[in-house]
Amino acid sequence: MGEMMIPGTVGSVPSDTEVDARVEALLERMSLEEKIGQLTQIGGASWNQGPKPEDVIRKGGAGSVLWLNDTQQFNLLQKIAVEESPSKIPLLFALDVIHGYRTIFPVPLAMASSWDPAVAERAQTVAAREARAAGLHWTFGPMLDIARDARWGRIVEGAGEDPYLGAAMAAAQVNGFQGPFLGAPDRVVACAKHFAGYGAAEGGRDYDPVYLSEAQLRNVYFPPFEAAVKAGVGTFMSAYMDLNNVPASGNRFLLSDVLRGEWGFKGFVVSDAMAIGNLVIQGFARDGRDAAMRALSAGLNMDMASNTYPQHLAGLVKDGTLALADIDAAVRPILAIKVRMGLFEHPYIDESKLEQVVALPEHRKEARNAAQRSMVLLRNEGHLLPLSGSLKNVAVIGPLADSMEATEGSWMVFGHTPAAVTVLEGIRTRLPGAKVEYAPGPEIRRDIASWFDNEMDASAKKVPQTPEQAEVAFQTAVVTARNADVIVMVLGENANMAGEAASRASLDLPGRQEELLKAVSVLGKPVVLVLLNGRPLSITWAAENVPAILEAWEPGSQGGHAIADILFGDVNPGGKLPVTFPRKGSHAPLYYARNLTHSPEGSPMYNPRYWDGLPTPLYPFGYGLSYTTFSITNLTVAAERVKVGGSVAVTAEVTNTGPVVGDEIVQLYIHQKAGSDSRPMRELKGFERLTLKPGETRTVTFTLGPAELGYWSTNAGRWIQDAEAFDVWVGADSTATLHADLVVGR
Ligand code: BGC
Repeated sequence: MGEMMIPGTVGSVPSDTEVDARVEALLERMSLEEKIGQLTQIGGASWNQGPKPEDVIRKGGAGSVLWLNDTQQFNLLQKIAVEESPSKIPLLFALDVIHGYRTIFPVPLAMASSWDPAVAERAQTVAAREARAAGLHWTFGPMLDIARDARWGRIVEGAGEDPYLGAAMAAAQVNGFQGPFLGAPDRVVACAKHFAGYGAAEGGRDYDPVYLSEAQLRNVYFPPFEAAVKAGVGTFMSAYMDLNNVPASGNRFLLSDVLRGEWGFKGFVVSDAMAIGNLVIQGFARDGRDAAMRALSAGLNMDMASNTYPQHLAGLVKDGTLALADIDAAVRPILAIKVRMGLFEHPYIDESKLEQVVALPEHRKEARNAAQRSMVLLRNEGHLLPLSGSLKNVAVIGPLADSMEATEGSWMVFGHTPAAVTVLEGIRTRLPGAKVEYAPGPEIRRDIASWFDNEMDASAKKVPQTPEQAEVAFQTAVVTARNADVIVMVLGENANMAGEAASRASLDLPGRQEELLKAVSVLGKPVVLVLLNGRPLSITWAAENVPAILEAWEPGSQGGHAIADILFGDVNPGGKLPVTFPRKGSHAPLYYARNLTHSPEGSPMYNPRYWDGLPTPLYPFGYGLSYTTFSITNLTVAAERVKVGGSVAVTAEVTNTGPVVGDEIVQLYIHQKAGSDSRPMRELKGFERLTLKPGETRTVTFTLGPAELGYWSTNAGRWIQDAEAFDVWVGADSTATLHADLVVGR
């Protein structure tokens, strides 16, 4: 890249050669201790248990600070780094900005439900602008772990179960956070995490070991990460857990062979928090010294807060176990990012900027739009929705109906005070003249608290209700519902029930919510169920008995308005599920792209997978309804045969056959019928979200080429493309029946 002036910025984008030269000049004057400092990330004041951050930074002992969210503090610490430390190298300030900084967007699982990568890109653009104005340089996102087990709490942070959708969302988020180039103004450096396989924790238990074949890793778990590298992501984070008996944070295959060797990643890798120290607990490293040596040799550049690198790397170099060149190689990409971000020229942040930036009306507009596009209509019997805007008497019932925490959702920015429009507020705003009565019913709580509860969810700190208080709340809710013409039930999970350290053994509605739903449903009034939750829930009773169900996920700070927009028909819902909904928690993991070993799905013989319950999903991957209807017809594959390495166009026509404008997400699935390896019964290989007026028809075109038709084969031990026959389906979800044949030949 040559010298390029960027409008609106101070200075210019340095060329690669210029960056390299500056990095080498810095390295030449740095002591070994300072180099190790660059490989060290320390916790900010509130988190740090060790020496004071100021003292560490003054000695050049830290390259980055995490878990600090205070603009003034950033400037104070930065001043120490650039004025008092030996080589005056600026710090990188890092935080988890996962779905918004002050303007909170829908959780990533919700944004994936939009099947609209532009939604995620714009959301992360806003998040980056606000975070950067606060003084942050680096976010620990996007989270790219494929998650096929709904019990795993962190399913909320990613794009769901599918590698193709996941890769599209990955690239969009990297582009949103980083902008057109690394170091772009008003953007932050992104971090693709957690590399790799974390979502496949055994039993859905967070942090538990993962056993995945190389084929599963490469075909399913890697694609979003590779997409992030292609999009130019600046950093990676290694995962916590043990992968096939080699912990991810000491895993050379992941961090060196694949990430750098095969994908050409040029940025740096940070460990997950304490993960280098954990190599000892995992029974991998003998002691801290061994852990430091093995993490660094595997390709891990920066130690997040375990203090293992600063304690042991110097000794390892002095006794010759590690070469100075190994340390230099680890430091280079960290310095390069600081140079590219212009931190040497502009280390400080203008403390007056943040409040102006977060107040920008377009941020709220984007958040509302993202929430509208993320919601999934799961059921709408008798066209109960949309509700009439002239309703006079509505009851809003449920423990989440007025919860800002549950509306904003999991993974709040550290130190953030929730300020969401709740469902209650959204409905009251939409129906100014109506009587809108509210009763929360019994509260819901997690049984076993996690460390995060205190940081992230104020509801966890409340004194628990007694059973008697809960009973009063229950009866009050039923009475309130009885007096209304329409009942909106807002049920689901508190913010601290999904996320890190928030796995569940059951997917039921927690607490007495289903009991309340049943008690309200027998009143004979129209009942709409709005779900606020961070994972698929086993709402089997509701799916058969409650006429209208809207999956709103954790929709962010404008969530209440967006829900009202949909409930009253100002916006037609068009999102689709990026995850399969199992009928029960004990059915997880359940996902659509499975291999078949016995009877085909749909045949009577398929059902005996369990004798005590249907093995099929409650709602399939890709599913979602609209206030209008669509037909998808005229599937054509441009050629019946295509050569290995060649491409073929697949087209279909989609028509809005209903009364109102609406969005359809057209999906392309394939199945390879035989080959070197057995292949999943269906795999998503294309999608497009379209807005159609009533009666309007459009043609969608997809391309199937080697990227879609090839795969990493266990039998061949490499990427291959078989000359074999394929099924092709196009439709509205993963059960699409519109079919064509395709033969790939030599
Ligand atoms: C999580 C990461 C996160 C880090 C820093 C860890 O516990 O696994 O996703 O980025 O903490 O907050």
